[in-house]
Amino acid sequence: MRLAKRISDLPPYIFAEVGRKLEQLKAEGVDVINLGIGSPDLPPPRHIIDVLYEAALKPDNHGYGGYYGLPGLRRAMADYYTRRFDVHLHPDREVAVLIGSKEGLFNISLAFLDSGDVALVPDPGYPTYSLGTHMAGGVRYPLPLLEDNGFLPELESIPADIADAARILWLNYPNNPSGAVADQEFLARAVNFARRHDLLLCCDNPYCDLTFDGYRAPSVLQVPGAKEVALEFNSLSKTYNMAGWRVGMAVGSPQAVEALARVKTNIDSGIFKPIQEAAIAALSGDQSWLAERNAIYQRRRDVVVDFLPTVGLTAQVPKAALYVWARLPEGQKSYDFCMCTLERTGVWLTPGSAFGENGEGYTRIALTLPEDRLREAGERLRRDKR
Ligand SMILES: Cc1ncc(COP(=O)(O)O)c(C=O)c1O
Repeated sequence: MRLAKRISDLPPYIFAEVGRKLEQLKAEGVDVINLGIGSPDLPPPRHIIDVLYEAALKPDNHGYGGYYGLPGLRRAMADYYTRRFDVHLHPDREVAVLIGSKEGLFNISLAFLDSGDVALVPDPGYPTYSLGTHMAGGVRYPLPLLEDNGFLPELESIPADIADAARILWLNYPNNPSGAVADQEFLARAVNFARRHDLLLCCDNPYCDLTFDGYRAPSVLQVPGAKEVALEFNSLSKTYNMAGWRVGMAVGSPQAVEALARVKTNIDSGIFKPIQEAAIAALSGDQSWLAERNAIYQRRRDVVVDFLPTVGLTAQVPKAALYVWARLPEGQKSYDFCMCTLERTGVWLTPGSAFGENGEGYTRIALTLPEDRLREAGERLRRDKR
């Protein structure tokens, strides 16, 4: 038996790898505080769960969920874009229902990259952009996201031959892992860039409704003409505390939606119908609870930002997303720092290097535990300060 090269070359997915280690420590009786993964710890509200329950009781709701998702779900996604961004989408031609956005983030590379094609990928960045590029046989050209530049890529400094060879430009704001945000003016420049170089602009926007201090995140589709060149990925995972339910969307360019659907219909068979019905309820029901949920995350953010200086870490205060991106003391390697912290304190932080070379020297702290656990983590780090 021999593994394919594309798999044998792959480093293990760090979150899966460390998950095992954390289970082992817990089994040994360690009180682990896991600030690694960005999985919301709060449940969705009752009205969404009730719809799931009722829908699961219907005997005819247990077959395949449909290749393109329920028409009502596509409509609810389009309506959400109208309400939230004043962006009008055709529910059949401009909306693809995804089994969580990660699925689409991966499959879009199969639709747009042939062997040797270039994808422009932010570094640090969510690992699936690079992985999809690799699996499609493409070549990743990293775009450094640096603190001095507000963690925005310098599109103008991409060499012309690389930009012309590229088929996809990836962007993600509000950003994981840095928590940085981008304004309309930057997104408009990215749309222009995509048009000039005839490539697909993929904007990953799962944190658009997880914002603090009154900040409102934009959509790339608000840029006039963006639909011609851009596909935006979005998700119910973070917005509605539904990460385990696996519902996402890709919206925008009809050509890209159609290409992605062509890949997907050959690979998967849709989402369980009761989950789709509950997703409709999430998107079209009461939205007022989101403000209180964001206030909870904001208070957690403040707890973390407050303890950072006392443990030798520094960070900008994020306006959005689920993370604080903290700089390590000079000379510390992020993997060693995080492993050592786990061994000595039981607190797990994600090493910045897991997100790319430019993540070295940072750690990502997820805000997915209650304030008292975050304070406890801060206390342990303070006692362990190196
Ligand atoms: C930037 C980014 N994109 C996409 C995802 C995946 O979200 P989903 O649960 O919709 O697959 C995540 C999850 O953490 C993320 O951080």
